[in-house]
Amino acid sequence: MNLNDSKILITGAGGLLGFRLGETFSGKCDLTLHYHSTPDKKSSEKQQIGDLSNIDYVKELSQSIRPDVIINSAALADVDRCEFEPEESRKINVKAVKLLLKYFPDAKFVHVSTDYAFDTDHVGKPDDERSPVNTYGQHKVEGEKLVQAASENNLIIRVNTLFDYTDKRNFFKYVFDSLRASKKISGVKDQTSNPISAITTAELIFELTKADATGCFHIGGAEFVSRYEFAVRVADYFKLDKSFIVPVEADSFEHRARRPQMAGLDCEKTEELLGRKMPALEEEFRLVSRVI
Ligand SMILES: NC(=O)c1ccc[n+]([C@@H]2O[C@H](COP(=O)([O-])OP(=O)(O)OC[C@H]3O[C@@H](n4cnc5c(N)ncnc54)[C@H](OP(=O)(O)O)[C@@H]3O)[C@@H](O)[C@H]2O)c1
Repeated sequence: MNLNDSKILITGAGGLLGFRLGETFSGKCDLTLHYHSTPDKKSSEKQQIGDLSNIDYVKELSQSIRPDVIINSAALADVDRCEFEPEESRKINVKAVKLLLKYFPDAKFVHVSTDYAFDTDHVGKPDDERSPVNTYGQHKVEGEKLVQAASENNLIIRVNTLFDYTDKRNFFKYVFDSLRASKKISGVKDQTSNPISAITTAELIFELTKADATGCFHIGGAEFVSRYEFAVRVADYFKLDKSFIVPVEADSFEHRARRPQMAGLDCEKTEELLGRKMPALEEEFRLVSRVI
């Protein structure tokens, strides 16, 4: 796809991933960034602000812009909040997807989804049967099904355990800031995934969009680690004191949504299409160290 000539709308542009998507697509297409409530005053790109779960707003938006491609990164991605506030989760993870598909029927829909589409027993491949174990996963899968039913030309990109060093909350930032301040932290040792930076994820989403991929693709790092191992790797790489990291069992947390024990994503299909390997943790730490 020749992105230079394309009008692209990125939703969730104020989020952990959306911020990097905005940076990555900037200057390479006719870009509009969509924010829920707070615009980015530093960005020079066109911006839209509103609630994508509000039918009147989405209708109005569809009368003012006509994107060729929508990269949908807007979500309620707080897994525990989704569990305990399912109606809030449904609003953005399902209803907003439905509205965008309805009011922008001619746009290619690139939908960001999650490894929590799968259950606990294996690392999912793109076309494996979906079997979510929590409300967040169930709602994201409902969103995926809407996207698939709308057009074969659409693209679902599942991502997992994103990290970065921006003002957005994520496990890497929590580990880095806590250890630097000599604060004790806990890391779950009995659940694994393959973390990757939001920076590389945005770049890979750009490449998949440019390649005009359709169907379903996965993005994740080359290494599968628990949160505990990840924290230790951060400490080792950045020369921080790992004695502050306490390994804990996932069951030791109360009021938490269930999570798959073996999460993460099989990314072979993406590697084959793009002709590049998913990055090792050390490469990703090096990349993020440039923005700290
Ligand atoms: N972070 C991860 O590790 C991870 C793992 C697997 C999959 N994912 C997927 O990756 C995508 C991006 O996640 P993220 O971590 O970047 O999430 P995030 O930081 O929470 O960003 C989501 C964005 O969506 C916006 N949004 C929420 N409700 C909205 C609404 N009603 N109307 C318009 N915008 C709304 C939010 O704006 P406000 O903050 O202003 O409400 C926020 O900027 C999601 O599809 C998520 O499911 C993320």
